[in-house]
Amino acid sequence: MSFSPDWLALREPADHAARSPALLGRLERWVGGRDLRIVDLGSGTGSSWRALAPRLGGHWTLTDLDPVLLERMPAGVERRQVDLSAELEDMVVRADIVTGSALIDLVSAEWLDRLVAALAPSTAVYFALSYDGREDWSPAPPFEAQALAAFRQHQEGDKGFGPALGPGATQHLGAALAARGWQVSVADSPWRLGSGQRALIEALADGARDAVAETGALIGTELEAWWQARRTAQRASVGHLDLLALPPS
Ligand SMILES: C[S@@+](CC[C@H](N)C(=O)[O-])C[C@H]1O[C@@H](n2cnc3c(N)ncnc32)[C@H](O)[C@@H]1O
Repeated sequence: MSFSPDWLALREPADHAARSPALLGRLERWVGGRDLRIVDLGSGTGSSWRALAPRLGGHWTLTDLDPVLLERMPAGVERRQVDLSAELEDMVVRADIVTGSALIDLVSAEWLDRLVAALAPSTAVYFALSYDGREDWSPAPPFEAQALAAFRQHQEGDKGFGPALGPGATQHLGAALAARGWQVSVADSPWRLGSGQRALIEALADGARDAVAETGALIGTELEAWWQARRTAQRASVGHLDLLALPPS
């Protein structure tokens, strides 16, 4: 599955505004000024680095499959082109912090279990902005309930890591880490979009229309009416979750 640089650039301001300040503050206190090795999984063009490096410092390794995105990563920061469906363990085994954003809703339960099994017991884990399936569009579009159910179902397709957990990913990862002794915190990090985010609202509506059309849940004039109502919505809230897990040792 590929993500265009334009889409990642469009969502980045909303992502930065949505991150839970409480979890980020807790991670910053845990880092405590130490110079740590931080690995960003599925880094795209470096959104997490731009959000976090000013606060956490550290030696970063940005990893992604897509060479187009790798080219746009910040100069002077270590980058690796890797297929994380295959090379996950090598990437995380020596990290002090494993992070990622808008990633774990794309992966399978098996991949998250592999991640947890590969972590050193001293590694912190921070995955932000995982889609959680909660959306609220205003004014309410017609056929919204059917369309949202179909969209959530579409989120659970294979994105290259096995059947995706979609909205269930944060819960699965949190439970797996807690079972091994990590102290897990989860916080809401929704996008709250209004007239200042017109282009993002329209792009979200277009992407969701393609996904819902693929499921066949809405077709013809019903699909068109729902899509147009989302495109012209005045406000939208799109739910995400951030997860921070501090290590047992
Ligand atoms: C939704 S984007 C998020 C990008 C970035 N973290 C951000 O917040 O802007 C998901 C990222 O995962 C990457 N990705 C998808 N499958 C991958 C794989 N098998 N190995 C490595 N990266 C992958 C994509 O190229 C994309 O950059």
